[in-house]
Amino acid sequence: MQCVSNGTLALQVAIKALDLKGEIITTPFSYVATTDAIIWENCKAVFVDIEEDSLTIDPKKIEAAITKKTSAILATHVYGNPCDVEAIARIAKKHKLKVIYDAAHSFGVKYKGKSVFNYGDISVVSFHATKLFHTIEGGAIFTKNKNLILKILT
Ligand SMILES: Cc1ncc(COP(=O)(O)O)c(C=O)c1O
Repeated sequence: MQCVSNGTLALQVAIKALDLKGEIITTPFSYVATTDAIIWENCKAVFVDIEEDSLTIDPKKIEAAITKKTSAILATHVYGNPCDVEAIARIAKKHKLKVIYDAAHSFGVKYKGKSVFNYGDISVVSFHATKLFHTIEGGAIFTKNKNLILKILT
């Protein structure tokens, strides 16, 4: 885990650490920072619609948006509702895509008994004053990949 000054920066560092290029599939239903981070890191945001009940990206619609330029999926766990992390993992594996979760709203959220931060290549959280757990301003980056941790630290 690496703490940074806010959740937006955490998203940008995640994109940089994974060396993402080209198109990143994402959700239109998130805070603007999710899309901003993609654009600020010189990638193109490709929107895929959300599920009606969870408000998270609809995995059934992701594959139709994948092109040769797609490098990753950046999905938001909305209001603490976890994305369909298993379906997204299957799609990412099949198409060799990286996965970042914007877990800005999801501090303390568990999926199948494990912290939701365990899923994807990287998860980021915001500690902004609008969040349930906050430090007024702040953010953090979570990954289980040791090489990525080293990259993020440098
Ligand atoms: C879903 C989502 N992503 C990213 C951010 C950005 O976090 P921060 O305000 O800490 O930069 C927020 C914060 O409002 C958010 O709600």
